[in-house]
Amino acid sequence: MKRSIIKSTGRYVPDRHVTNEELAGLMDTSNEWIVQRTGIEARYWVREGEDIGTSDLAYEASIIALQRANWNPEDLDLIVFATMTPDVNVPGSGAFLQNRLGDKNIPALDIRQQCTGFLHGLEICDAYIRSEKAQKILLVGAEFQSRYLELTTENRDTAVIFADGAGAVCIEAVETSEEVGIITSILHADGKYSGALRAGLPARKSGPAISPTVIQNKEHFPYMDGKTVFKLAVTRLPKVTEELLAKANMKIEDLNMIIPHQANLRINEAFRERLNIPEEKMYNNIQRYGNTTAATIPIALDELMEKNMLKPKDTIMLIGLGAGLTWGGVIYKMI
Ligand code: UT7
Repeated sequence: MKRSIIKSTGRYVPDRHVTNEELAGLMDTSNEWIVQRTGIEARYWVREGEDIGTSDLAYEASIIALQRANWNPEDLDLIVFATMTPDVNVPGSGAFLQNRLGDKNIPALDIRQQCTGFLHGLEICDAYIRSEKAQKILLVGAEFQSRYLELTTENRDTAVIFADGAGAVCIEAVETSEEVGIITSILHADGKYSGALRAGLPARKSGPAISPTVIQNKEHFPYMDGKTVFKLAVTRLPKVTEELLAKANMKIEDLNMIIPHQANLRINEAFRERLNIPEEKMYNNIQRYGNTTAATIPIALDELMEKNMLKPKDTIMLIGLGAGLTWGGVIYKMI
């Protein structure tokens, strides 16, 4: 049976390191507030005016992952690109990435699933591999959030949270009878909460997508009802964990590491406490990166690999919730 194995990982963040103190100089906020309410100490943003797109961040992470897998871009059968901040609306960032990698004419699929983009990507890659439609896939989660943020007190809730970065994985089809690789996944959506976290452009109404009124109403900046998203996260993350464990016939003790989406350290702490998960079994790095949306999970995975914190036969769970509302997780067993 074909199994989906993560052969290598890579990550990239821009070199502009933005501290909470720097943001406190731009709006009414403070290091204390940001650390206490979110856990974030610093993040990376693309330098202002730099001629760069989301696909360029993805390219840097992809090159590292490809080199570690010992693959050339021409070995790939498919690119899956998860982002909510594409280079441009049309075409997708996957096409830009494919062009930079110099691939042959393989499909380059963009997915727009926000914070759960990488999780959706894993399920899609697994479906391609199990149905023998692909052998070697590059899956990337990348975001260039900083250009969508308004650095003012009015929009400080989103300005202090979101950040830029990319994480990539090379996924390979391996023929084996062992229960390894992607074991199972569960994804959910609840469009009832589509207004709780959204970016308004292009607007869902007639008339020009961009007009002075749209700009005046600040519809081009993200809007977040943080409290609602927070409450949904702390109940639905434990619930989907239980669903995943039941589907895989496992117990929480069978998991060696949990890699949650990095939206807010308090969300992950509440989730961990609800399920009595020991602190050392949950990996958080929001303190250093902020919320890079589709890139948080692959960046964390890459750090864990680099630090040798994952061993052969370890079972891990990747999990997240975000705009849509979408949420879900994946259970993965190291080969
Ligand atoms: O990955 C995408 C999914 N997103 C999430 O999961 C986000 C989930 N939500 C959150 O992380 C939190 O709701 C936030 C961090 C966004 C906000 O934290 P909160 O504890 O829910 O704060 P709040 O919205 O209840 O605001 C409390 C106070 C308000 O002031 P008043 O009305 O009490 O005077 C806000 O205006 O904190 C104020 N505030 C800030 N103060 C300083 C909001 N943002 C800031 C800020 N600095 N950056």
